[in-house]
Amino acid sequence: MVTDDLHEVLRRGLEAVRAAVDLASLDEARARFLGRGDGELTLMRRRIGTIADPDAKRQYGLSVNEACRRLEEDVEARRAQLERERQEVAVAAEALDLTWPAPPLRRGHLHPVTRMTREIRRVFTQLGYLTLSGPEVEYDRYNFTLVNMPPGHPSRDTQDTFYIDDSRLLRTQTSPVQIRALVALGAPLRVIVPGKVFRRDNDPTHSPVFHQVEGLLVDEGVTAGDLKGTLEFFARSIFGAERAIRLRPHNFSFTEPSLELDVSCMVCEGKGCRLCKHSGWIEVLGSGMVHPDVLRNGGVDPEHYTGFAFGFGIERAAQLAYGIDDVRVLYENDVRLVGQG
Ligand code: DAH
Repeated sequence: MVTDDLHEVLRRGLEAVRAAVDLASLDEARARFLGRGDGELTLMRRRIGTIADPDAKRQYGLSVNEACRRLEEDVEARRAQLERERQEVAVAAEALDLTWPAPPLRRGHLHPVTRMTREIRRVFTQLGYLTLSGPEVEYDRYNFTLVNMPPGHPSRDTQDTFYIDDSRLLRTQTSPVQIRALVALGAPLRVIVPGKVFRRDNDPTHSPVFHQVEGLLVDEGVTAGDLKGTLEFFARSIFGAERAIRLRPHNFSFTEPSLELDVSCMVCEGKGCRLCKHSGWIEVLGSGMVHPDVLRNGGVDPEHYTGFAFGFGIERAAQLAYGIDDVRVLYENDVRLVGQG
């Protein structure tokens, strides 16, 4: 029977459509059964014209058309399904798993100079000091004359100065802020002043720009004993609780008497090594009792008030505290330095 053939062809057609795994094999299956030229159902449809009996012809025609429609429907349904599946695969491939751990974040670290500045500030804040800053472009008068280094004074020579014009320069020390602080705040007073200073030096152990901290305390009845206690607290907070200190007489124009602070060597514990040049001691800062002229220049009566001052290089303190041999690494911008944490 022709209609049995039709059923058989339709069955195979539906089977082929169901079995198509992608759009290409679906198109191929459709062409095999419904293709214009030689699709199996197309060929069967052409047979309608060859049937003589009108009833049989009509019946057969209805069946063939129904079979074609059915198969066409299944092809489209399968196409829609395959397309959906293809999209799902594509979306799944692109999907982000938000629960997946992120790649480790590379955190920065503070530069040793910044870190040391903060540590110094923390130590002196505990002792009630205010932190101030002063101008980096300073008057010669403030940088030198008012801290007892008048024109022609020998210690000006030790601070090779960048002059801007006759009266202005890049400050060579933070000491001029002593005057500014006294003028602005008066006595009693406790301040530290961290900041950049500039000198015409450039060799393996000197940079033309470096950092200092100035300290100044002025009050009634301040003695060298107060200075010693303060420096001991500072040295032990920064360089380790087991540090011993000693004060040696020195000479600074703005202090009288002047003292240099040595701290027992942090490498050899005082036994003697290369860092301390086998002396067991490391020179850390300059200090002294504020010279009466300096108090006067700041508008403070030296008959009523006394005070002490100290000053030191932050790079040097950082080198000693963190064991950095060569100052130059502090300026070379090698991220491995700050990466050490
Ligand atoms: N200004 C000095 C310098 O640059 C350091 C200094 C020494 C500051 C003694 C002081 C001090 O306040 O009392 O070498």
